[in-house]
Amino acid sequence: MRIFIIGFMGSGKSHWGKIWAEESKMNYYDLDALIIAEEQLSIEEIFEKKGEAYFRKIEATVLRSTIEDEHCIISCGGGTPCFVENMTWMNENGVTVYLKGESVWLLQNMSEEIHHRPLFKNIDQSEILGFIEEKIKERSVYYDKAQILLPSAVQNKDTIWQILSTI
Ligand code: S3P
Repeated sequence: MRIFIIGFMGSGKSHWGKIWAEESKMNYYDLDALIIAEEQLSIEEIFEKKGEAYFRKIEATVLRSTIEDEHCIISCGGGTPCFVENMTWMNENGVTVYLKGESVWLLQNMSEEIHHRPLFKNIDQSEILGFIEEKIKERSVYYDKAQILLPSAVQNKDTIWQILSTI
């Protein structure tokens, strides 16, 4: 059993991933944290010093390294499903769960760390909401391939049991 949690930045992937792993006694991995450990750089620094294309390459490699664990929950990065056939790979090697949320709610959840997010680097404050909406529209083609859809309103500590019961 391998569960991949996907969704836009601020959708609660790491928050719920950690809680659901504790609840279900599964191992837990945060893809961004694995990348940081591998590169010995923050995500912001990887984007700045090496560029997004490099980040996406490492992200795909680190994602595939989770194949070694048969019993785990993996919180992906917001862009993970959209590059290097990652969504197809995740669907072939586990169960994908999409945490879906409205753009205003996502922005609220991210507001404190918004300036550390590489994707928002050159976006004016007044344009962030529109940018999020555009990005979600663009990424939906990948996000919508998830096997399980979880709107923000139905996410709670016990949701993991619902997920496991449908697998
Ligand atoms: C990204 C989301 C981030 C991180 C990187 C790129 C994206 O992860 O991987 O900044 O493209 O949406 P979180 O969604 O965990 O913040």
